[in-house]
This record gives sequence, C-alpha cells and structure tokens, in this order.
Amino acid sequence: MPYQFKNIFVYQSAVEKALIDPEAFWGEIAANFHWFSPWKKVMNCKMELAEFNWFQEGKTNISYNCLDRHLTERGAQTALIFEPNDPNEKAQHISYTELHARVSQMANVLKANGIEKGDRVCIYLPMIPELAISVLACARIGAIHSVVFAGFSATALASRIQDCTCKLIITADGGFRGNKELDLKIIVDEALLSCPSITKSLVVKRTHSTINMLSGRDYYLEDELQKVTTICEAEIMDAEDPLFILYTSGSTGKPKGMLHSTGGYMVYAGYTFQNVFDYQEKDVFWCTADIGWITGHSYSVYGPLLNGATTVLFEGIPSYPDFGRFWEIIDKHQVNQFYTAPTAIRSLAKEALSWVEKYDLTSLRILGSVGEPINDEAWHWYHKNIGKENCPIVDTWWQTETGGILISPLPNITKLKPAFATLPLPGIKVALMGEEKQELIGNEVSGSLCIKFPWPSIARTIWGDHQRYLETYFTAFPGYYFTGDGALRDEDGYYRITGRVDDVIIVSGHNLGTGPIEEAINDHTLVAESAIVGFPHDIKGSALYGFVILKEEHTDHGKLREEINQIISDQIGPIAKLDKIQFTSGLPKTRSGKIMRRILRKIAEGELENFGDISTLLNPELVAEILKDKR
Ligand code: PRX
Repeated sequence: MPYQFKNIFVYQSAVEKALIDPEAFWGEIAANFHWFSPWKKVMNCKMELAEFNWFQEGKTNISYNCLDRHLTERGAQTALIFEPNDPNEKAQHISYTELHARVSQMANVLKANGIEKGDRVCIYLPMIPELAISVLACARIGAIHSVVFAGFSATALASRIQDCTCKLIITADGGFRGNKELDLKIIVDEALLSCPSITKSLVVKRTHSTINMLSGRDYYLEDELQKVTTICEAEIMDAEDPLFILYTSGSTGKPKGMLHSTGGYMVYAGYTFQNVFDYQEKDVFWCTADIGWITGHSYSVYGPLLNGATTVLFEGIPSYPDFGRFWEIIDKHQVNQFYTAPTAIRSLAKEALSWVEKYDLTSLRILGSVGEPINDEAWHWYHKNIGKENCPIVDTWWQTETGGILISPLPNITKLKPAFATLPLPGIKVALMGEEKQELIGNEVSGSLCIKFPWPSIARTIWGDHQRYLETYFTAFPGYYFTGDGALRDEDGYYRITGRVDDVIIVSGHNLGTGPIEEAINDHTLVAESAIVGFPHDIKGSALYGFVILKEEHTDHGKLREEINQIISDQIGPIAKLDKIQFTSGLPKTRSGKIMRRILRKIAEGELENFGDISTLLNPELVAEILKDKR
C-alpha cells in the first residue's frame, strides 16, 4: 500500500506535506482507492458553517472497495472469521469471494423488499456475520444504514428508528451473549408498535427460539435469500452521498444521529487502519467492539476490508465461558493486532494471570486501546502480560463524530508514553483552547481539545438537525471543531486525554449523556427531579451516581431504586443503570436555576470538603444535608 508510513522518514515527510499542502496530501491518499470517476476538487469546507465537501464530484462505492476490488488478488483469502459465543460452536471462515457473493445477495433482498438508494435501513443484530453483511449490502446499493447496538431497549430502538424514519429493519430471533439469550425479536416487536415508517422486517435465525412473525411485515432472511441471485452491481455513489447514521448520546435530549458520507469516511477509515495498526499482508486483525458502535464500524468492518485484511468478529463476552476467552481466541486464530477497551483490560487484569498464561500469544504484534482514558496500571498490565513487552500499544483517541482515529501513536514510529494518546496523525491539526477561548500555544498546557482543520471523515451533520450540529460542536470556539474532551499537552508535545468536559459520562467505554437518563428517572411517578454525575470505578472507569428528589417521602428506598433502574433499563438499556442512588430533598443550584454538577461530582467522588465557592448557590445549606445523608 503506497500510503503506508513504512518508517520515520516517510512519516515525517507525510507530516510536512499535510501541513504545507493538505489538498495534495489527502488527494494522494485517496488515490489508493477505487473511484468510478475522479473528484474535481479534494476539499471544499467551511468549518464555521459545518459544511464539509470532500472529493467533490468523485464517484465511488465503499462496498466495491471492500470487496470487488480484492477479488482477483485475494478472492480465496479469509475476509471474516466469525467466532461464536459458545467455544464449542465451530468458527466460520468467510473468504472475500464468499463475502462478496453474500453481500450481493443480501443487497438483492433489500432491493426486492423495496429499498432504494437513500432509504434508511435499521440493523439490530447480534455480532454475527449477517451484521457485517447487512452493513455492506446497504452500502452496496446506497441505502443508509443505521446500526443500533443490540443491547438497547425497545424505547431506545424506537426513538432511533423514528428519528431517521427507517423503512426496513434487519434483526434476529435472538442473540447469544455469555450465558444469556437476548430476545431481540420481542424487543423489535415492541419498538415497531410506534414505528409506522417500517414496512418490512427481515429476521435472521440465530437462537431458533419461538417468535411471533407478523404476516405481511416479518420475513425470515433465509427464505428471502432463496429468491434472489448473488449478483448485484455496486451502485455508483457520489463521494458526499450519505453512508450511515450512527446515534451517539448528547448531554441533553434525544440522541444525535451522526451522519457520515461515503468518500471521506472511506478514505479516512482505510488510511488510519493501515497506519495505526501497521497492517501487513495476511495479518489477522481483531477489534472486540460491537459493530453497534463506531469502533466496530470503522475497525471491525470498513477499515480492515478496505485494506484486504482478515477481520475477526466475536459474538460473545470476555468472561464466558471463562476469563481466558479473549486469550484463547488470539491463540486459536493467531491474531496479530488486538484492539479493545480499557474497561475490558481492567476487568481481565483483576483475574488470575493463569488465564493468560494458558495461551500462546506470540502471534500478537500490536495492541490497541480505545473508548476512554487508559490508566497507567491497566496500560502496564496490558503491555507486560499480553504484549510481553514486545508489542506497541496504540492508545487511539477519536469519536463517533470523527469517523476514525485522530490521535494515536504509530507503531515503531512514535515513542510510547503510557496513558498518552501521543500525537495527532498526519493531516490532523489539534488545538487546546483556554478559558478565554484563545488557542493555547506551546507545551505544558491543558484545555479544551479542538480540531482546527477539517479531515475527510468528519461527520457531515446530525440527521435532520444541522443547527444542533453547529451549536454542539462549532460554536464554543468559532472556526474550531470542539470535541467535548479536555486534554493536556506535555513537555514533549504529547497529548493526554483527561476526560469529558461536558455532561457526557463514559461508562465501560460507552458514551452516556446525563440528559436522557435524567429524563428516564423523572418518568417515575414519585420522582420530582434528578441529576446524574459520574464517579471513579475500578473496572468501568466511571460509574453513574444519581441524586433523586422525590415528590413525597417514601419508606421503601430499596424498591424505589430497583424501579428507577428498571425504567432506565427499559428506556435506554441496562448499560445506563445507576450504581448508586441517593434520595435528597434538593439539588444545589445556581441563582439562575442551573444544577451545580461540580459539587455533586465531588460528593459522588467521596469528597467531604473543599467544595470551592458555594456562596453563589441558591441553597448552600443543602450541601451539608446531602453530605450527611451520604454518610
Ligand atoms: O471522551 C473521549 C472518549 O470517548 C469519547 C468518544 O466516544 P464515542 O463517540 O462513543 O467513541 C468511542 C470510540 C471511538 C471521546 O470524546 N475516548 C475515546 N477514545 C479515547 C477516549 N478517551 C481517552 N483516550 C482514548 N483513547
């Protein structure tokens, strides 16, 4: 691959080129992909208006680039290894030729069921091959996929379907996750009661459990596949045609449907996969993230397949049937690059080392981390026990909105520093902003993390709400993209991400906005008001602490806590349940009525004093009261 930074010299010249002539830099990278017809201009962007146009008028198709392009050279090579939840079930090896045929067939099923270019298709599936196949099939015909993580509840699923008016849903009878079975079709049935835009649902048989099939709406996928051929030409797509919508939590209100477009996302996912993971021919790459999250989109499916790699899809969880499961899979499939989240590392690090030592991990060359800051201890455990001190750890910082990795070490090029995401990739211009909204110059500073120059895979908008997109990301620091994170730049110019500076809390690597959770809690008939903050947790990184005001006193707090968590689970999903709930008579508020979360955060963290200036509070006496109840 010509866009590979083979050594420090190639890397340095790329950094320079990207700085001096970004258009030429990105044009050269994009030239490594297949275009039905070339672009007229590399970029035409207006950061202040959040208008981004990359590879203007270029025509391409990402599914073509992931599949067709590889057929002559590597048709027989394994594209996808499916490792089932149950280790006794046989793994599947799907070649590029077979994947191409299955994606084409799936694309024909979508067409036969009325899906056309631009239509939205919801995908609510467990981590089985059909999930990757469905994503690629949508891309093949220009339908916009909206994958919803199969751990979300019926209410959360419904709100995502309604927001982008999906026409069809692809789901399964159920899914296996550890020793649990997920009743996916039951959840879908409930969601569809309030989703009139959906006219068809395609159901994959996975658990073979008994389900209801609504005549005229629900069809088994296996029956539909029988009716069509395995030949489907890839649709010619404009570089700026939408590729997918993926929802992410906001600090308030409904989830934001981040819209990514075809050409820019493709170029960036391919470029970053190649370089951050130092991909070499025949490598086996494993990203443990579910395709329901951006990490799974970019680095389980698109990034690896764009580069002709072999990618592992794992249906299960790290602790089932035992704590050796991850290490067993690495050994079994001779994985070369392993990419996971700090929360998984922390949970496995607390188990006996014998789980690791049972397996041969010598195939590993690169380790990756994503989703939240990795603490020193977890970094060292990972480096020593999994990488045997031989594998660089790429601590990759990025977001659903960025489409791909923006800040990360490059293996064998960047000198590592534990818990530092280190440096922006060539082509990415990072800025730290101070309290006065000025850019902080020089090293040893910390501030709000912003990006000051567009890159190809920046989200194009929030589906249906460009104003919200502008307000959320482009108004805090005009002319800059504001990430919502804080970061520091140390004496070497390296970046360390310090965490969110807004009301998003990252629990086990999942972004959770406080707003939607508070709204769910407030739906309980006895709740008057609530506020959620994060507090440090050994395994999850952060956990949720809820302060809840009741409308009237109630004696059975245990039962109330259970009911509140049940509502959260129903409306959002079990991942958003609170670890701690404290009932209180009020919340500390400013005179303008804003909840002082800073104080609640300190209380949740176990701070007993040092609350700073609380004189501006409307109700300063409340702080002592909340503290008393906590103890
Ligand atoms: O706070 C940062 C954190 O995860 C947020 C993005 O979450 P999401 O859109 O769900 O995407 C997660 C996977 C890309 C960021 O704003 N985050 C992500 N990676 C890191 C991180 N925090 C610290 N270090 C990282 N490597």
